[in-house]
Amino acid sequence: MSTDTFPIRRVDHVRHYVNNARQAAFFYQHTFGFGITGYAGLETGSQKEVSYVLDQNELRLVFTAPVRPGHPMAPLIAEHGDFVQDIAFEVDDVDWAWKAATDRGAVSYAEPYTLEDDHGKVRLASIRTYGNVVHSLINRDHYKGPFLPGFRSENQPGDPIGLIEVDHCVGNVELGKMNVWVKWYEDVLGFKNLISFDDNDISTDFTSLMSKVMANGNGRVKFPINEPAPGKKKSQIDEYLEFFGGPGVQHVAMRTDDIVYTVSRLRARGIQFLSVPRSYYDMLTDRVGQIDEDIDVLAELGILVDRDDEGYLLQIFTKPVTDRPTLFYEIIHRKGAKSFGKGNFKALFESIEREQALRGTL
Ligand code: FE2
Repeated sequence: MSTDTFPIRRVDHVRHYVNNARQAAFFYQHTFGFGITGYAGLETGSQKEVSYVLDQNELRLVFTAPVRPGHPMAPLIAEHGDFVQDIAFEVDDVDWAWKAATDRGAVSYAEPYTLEDDHGKVRLASIRTYGNVVHSLINRDHYKGPFLPGFRSENQPGDPIGLIEVDHCVGNVELGKMNVWVKWYEDVLGFKNLISFDDNDISTDFTSLMSKVMANGNGRVKFPINEPAPGKKKSQIDEYLEFFGGPGVQHVAMRTDDIVYTVSRLRARGIQFLSVPRSYYDMLTDRVGQIDEDIDVLAELGILVDRDDEGYLLQIFTKPVTDRPTLFYEIIHRKGAKSFGKGNFKALFESIEREQALRGTL
């Protein structure tokens, strides 16, 4: 018997609200290699905002910006900077999902509605989660057009780098709020707590944080939720909350099946990553055992490795991609491991602290 009390097929898309969607789309096209496949704006009858849809395999990012004063999202963009506003889910039945979620305590952001054009119909609704982030609920089983009604097709290919799908999306919430949102994902969306980390797992001499990883019924949607824990200095989560102006999406992990290729391409295109000391690689084989990859190549690219009971994973984190020290990306390659790289936390946090020290925020 299925115990999934809130069936979600997959993450449908991740929508960012930004000040300048044209430049954001260009950046993601020319660095991460997304193709621009859809567009809505003044030319398509969208009078208030412009949106670009970017695809790479199962990954879909949407960048939306106001085109006139008075847009309802403008104060939030001013407050947070460019930010992830929607982690949208594809569901079987939007009306059922919205009603179930709101009956279980979710706050509605948009009641179920239909968008329609010559290509068919799409049913949508949205619920609020932490901060100013929402989860849209979407079903496009009766739609054949690009993205959503009102969008036109674009054919601006990227030069893809092997990104496959969203692996997980991480939220940072305030001190004391992690368990509130863990319970919310359990009660409302039927998620289960996969793994918990406390400040003994995730601490350095200076900073610590707590984290719980929540996963949906089919295991395809994974949301770690972090909160700061008291440390000697300001934690990276505190820094995020201060600069973002509250809780929000900290990073999106994108899965690849060839991390050496993906990261080589990203580095060649100017994406900057957190770095770890060379000593990390001297100790690597002792810590994770034999791996398929050449450790010198991993060291050159700064790729990290961790092992769990089921296999190992390779991962790397970009520096923030916005002016503020807020949103960044993870590239992850799973070779059996279903975990999140706990063995790398200490080396990573020391790397983040070096960046924080440069920003004067440690
Ligand atoms: Fe991650």
